[in-house]
Amino acid sequence: MDGVTVINHPLVQHKLTFMRRKETSTAGFRRLLREISTLLCYEVTRDLELTVETIETPMVEMEAPVLEGKKLVFASILRAGNGLLEGMLDLVPSARVSHVGVYRDHETLQPVEYYFKAPENLSERLVIVVDPMLATGNSSIAAVDKLKERGAKNLRFVCLLAAPEGLKHFREAHPDVPIFTASIDSHLNEQGYIVPGLGDAGDRMYGTK
Ligand code: URA
Repeated sequence: MDGVTVINHPLVQHKLTFMRRKETSTAGFRRLLREISTLLCYEVTRDLELTVETIETPMVEMEAPVLEGKKLVFASILRAGNGLLEGMLDLVPSARVSHVGVYRDHETLQPVEYYFKAPENLSERLVIVVDPMLATGNSSIAAVDKLKERGAKNLRFVCLLAAPEGLKHFREAHPDVPIFTASIDSHLNEQGYIVPGLGDAGDRMYGTK
């Protein structure tokens, strides 16, 4: 699908399989999510611009490439987005962070917003929105709507699993936002869960069920 990149690196696929297994413990799930998010971060930042800084090596002065890390914002869709956020910050510690609190009403499957905090000048930054599951797309679309309302113009979306229904919905709502995912699964079930999926990412991360 146009605008969708599936990150099929063997390490990502291997770790994802362990995350899907129902017997994987909460601690194991969290550790794998953190590890996999560094790999996803590597892919989504592959084309970031570099500037140069004058540094001194033990030998000479040189112009050396550096990232403009402060220009980057990771926007975590609470609460499961925080699992991806941690690994991303391991790789880009100077990135700014936005939190968008959106939960899914289990009956209507519609997003309900309860929290929003973002750094200033979103319009000058690359905003990488993170949420492990792109299911119906409702929460992700609502989060991106909100970030755009606050000025964000340059966005990318990273998830672990996407349902074809969610991908289509998201791409229709935000065709300017490229999506990076480790897998496109089969479909959504009647409760809006991704199949085969991995269950409720938030519950599996925090042991709440
Ligand atoms: N959110 C989850 O955590 N899991 C799904 O399968 C769908 C949405």
